Amino acid sequence: MKTYLITGCAGFIGSNFVYYMLNKYKEIRLVNLDKLTYAGNLENLKGVEGDPRHIFVQGDICDKELVSKLFAEYDFDYVINFAAESHVDRSISNPEIFVQTNVLGTVNLLQCAKDAWYNNGSWTEGKKYVQVSTDEVYGSLGEDGYFMETTPLCPHSPYSSSKASADMFVMAFHDTYGMPVNITRCSNNYGPYQFPEKLIPLMINNVKNHKKLPVYGDGMNVRDWLYVEDHCKAIDMVAEGGRVGEVYNVGGHNERPNIFIVKTIIAQLHDRLKDEGISEDLIEYVADRLGHDRRYGIDPTKIKDELGWYPETPFEVGIVKTIDWYLANQEWMSHVTSGDYLKYYEDMYKNK
Ligand code: NAD
Ligand code: DAU
Repeated sequence: MKTYLITGCAGFIGSNFVYYMLNKYKEIRLVNLDKLTYAGNLENLKGVEGDPRHIFVQGDICDKELVSKLFAEYDFDYVINFAAESHVDRSISNPEIFVQTNVLGTVNLLQCAKDAWYNNGSWTEGKKYVQVSTDEVYGSLGEDGYFMETTPLCPHSPYSSSKASADMFVMAFHDTYGMPVNITRCSNNYGPYQFPEKLIPLMINNVKNHKKLPVYGDGMNVRDWLYVEDHCKAIDMVAEGGRVGEVYNVGGHNERPNIFIVKTIIAQLHDRLKDEGISEDLIEYVADRLGHDRRYGIDPTKIKDELGWYPETPFEVGIVKTIDWYLANQEWMSHVTSGDYLKYYEDMYKNK
């Protein structure tokens, strides 16, 4: 039976990963280390309550004593690091915490893994560290071309700079000490349990409540959207079969301008809820995000050719599943939109 240290798995992608893995593997142990920041929510893990294969530990990936203790207690086969400050707008107003968690936290995990797995000049067989990174480390594309694994890193936001730094440390541990690592770099995810500060759940919630829909700039920035379960599958495949020391890009072949996403959500909810108060009049073009990357587009040929991964969920199917989930989980939405998050959102919106 394999034991995984998974970090940040009370958040959006991580909680989906917990469901994906427990569904796929009967015999598995997932030790989920999460600090429970504003983005971490134990309600996301309600469906695995009482499952002995999932062990939740509240704590910080920067805490050396705690992480070392977990390594000693569980003898991990894999570390999969999802934990991060993940929102670009927050990184623009408060970059320090991004360095703390995304850079120093990653280095702490690497160091603790090395302490546990590297003895007398060699690495224990069968161990691997996987860093969940992002396409944003590559910067921004013009109208043509795609991000390849060989594209030079060129991050622009404090968030993407912190993720790029973390990636460089992961590779430094591989290049310097021979640590078995992989990095995945995925495009924008959408699906259940995403915190409604991100475009898709924010727009679903606002449309449903007839609130204004803040579209940054001209609404023509392009993102490459991937249904979250497809990302989870890619991470599992890379952990299992990825060649040591390699980076794998993960993307949905699904580039859409932001305004298309917003209009799709409006049309879907208008028809589904038969609500005439829902219309494109809710759209409000607001000041652009500082340093806003224009276009992301992933070339996922490497992971397809080497591991057989491909995006299984067409956007038209994924977006309907996603809207269904948010409509069916209004209580979840009202919990996460109260407290800190609401205050943050109101402050941001007031300044637009
Ligand atoms: P999220 O913000 O929803 O969740 C982050 C989780 O990390 C939360 O549960 C939070 O409590 C936890 N966390 C934060 N700081 C921590 C710390 N110091 N110690 C322990 N736990 C901590 O993020 P997400 O969207 O699920 O993203 C997960 C990972 O995937 C991130 O590394 C992100 O950079 C990467 N990623 C995200 C996307 C996307 O579209 N959301 C795409 C590509 C890559
Ligand atoms: O590309 C992967 C990245 O995708 C991940 O690494 C990040 O963790 C994740 O947050 C996401 O970053 P983005 O900045 O692309 O996602 P966000 O949902 O914040 O914004 C998507 C696009 O929509 C972006 O061009 C900004 C725009 N936007 C966003 C919000 C929240 C708006 O126009 N209005 C909004 O209110």
